[in-house]
Amino acid sequence: MQVLVYKDAETIARAAAAIFAGEITRKDGVVIGLATGSTPVPTYRELIRLNREGVIDFSKVISYNLDEYVGLQHDHPCSYRRFMNEQLFDHINIDKANTHVPDGIACNAAEYEQEIKDIGGVDLQLLGIGSDGHIGFNEPADEFVYPTNIVKLTDQTIDDNARFFNNRDEVPKTAISMGIGTIMSAKRIILIATGKNKARAIAAAINGPVAPAMPASILQMHQNVQFLLDEDAASEL
Ligand code: F6R
Repeated sequence: MQVLVYKDAETIARAAAAIFAGEITRKDGVVIGLATGSTPVPTYRELIRLNREGVIDFSKVISYNLDEYVGLQHDHPCSYRRFMNEQLFDHINIDKANTHVPDGIACNAAEYEQEIKDIGGVDLQLLGIGSDGHIGFNEPADEFVYPTNIVKLTDQTIDDNARFFNNRDEVPKTAISMGIGTIMSAKRIILIATGKNKARAIAAAINGPVAPAMPASILQMHQNVQFLLDEDAASEL
C-alpha cells in the first residue's frame, strides 16, 4: 500500500488522471472501474481536459461503475448512470456501449459480476470512501460480502448522500454494488479522499485491523493500492 498526501483536491485530480492516462495508453481495451460522488468530479474534469488535448484516447476503453441506487431509472437526475454521462462520458470519446453501470431496476447482480469476470477483470479501479468507511456501497457489516450484491444503505450514508436529492426521504434505501471481492480482484486500485469528514475512516482503513466493520480496511490486503489524500483526509493518520 502506498499513501500519498497532496495539498488539495486539484492536485489529487491531476495525479489520479495521470495514473489513468498511463494505464489507458499502456493497454488497448483497458478495463477501468469508476466511482461516483463528489470526490472524483475534479479527476473526471481532468480526464476530459486530457482527452480534449489528445493526451488520452478513450475510444477502446471499457468501463464498469461500482454501484447504482436500486429503483432509480437510468435518466433519473440522481441516478449514477446519469451522473456518469454528465460528469464524464458525454464529454470524452468513449463508446457509450462500452460503459457499464449496474442496473438499479433489473438489479442483475450476478450477471454484472459475471460480465466483469468474462472480460478479464478490472485493470484500474478508482474508489472514493464513505465517512463510515464504505467502498462502493459495501457498508460496515459483520462479514465481508464478496460478489456484486444488493446492499442496504446505512443511516450515515443516507444522511451523507441526501445533499444530492430534494430531501432525505427521497434517498433510496438500497443499492446494487460491486462486492468486496469484485473490488479486490482489480489489478490496481487508487482510492481518493478529501476533507476532514473522511479522516477517521482513512485512519481506520490504513492503520486499523482488517475487519468488515471498516470495509476499506480490506485494501491493506491488496498488492497494488494507492491512497491519494489531501491534508485534511490524512489528518488522523
Ligand atoms: C460511489 C461510491 C461511494 C463513494 C463514497 C464517497 O460510486 O462508490 O463509495 O465513493 O460514498 O462519496 P463522496 O465522494 O461523495 O464523498
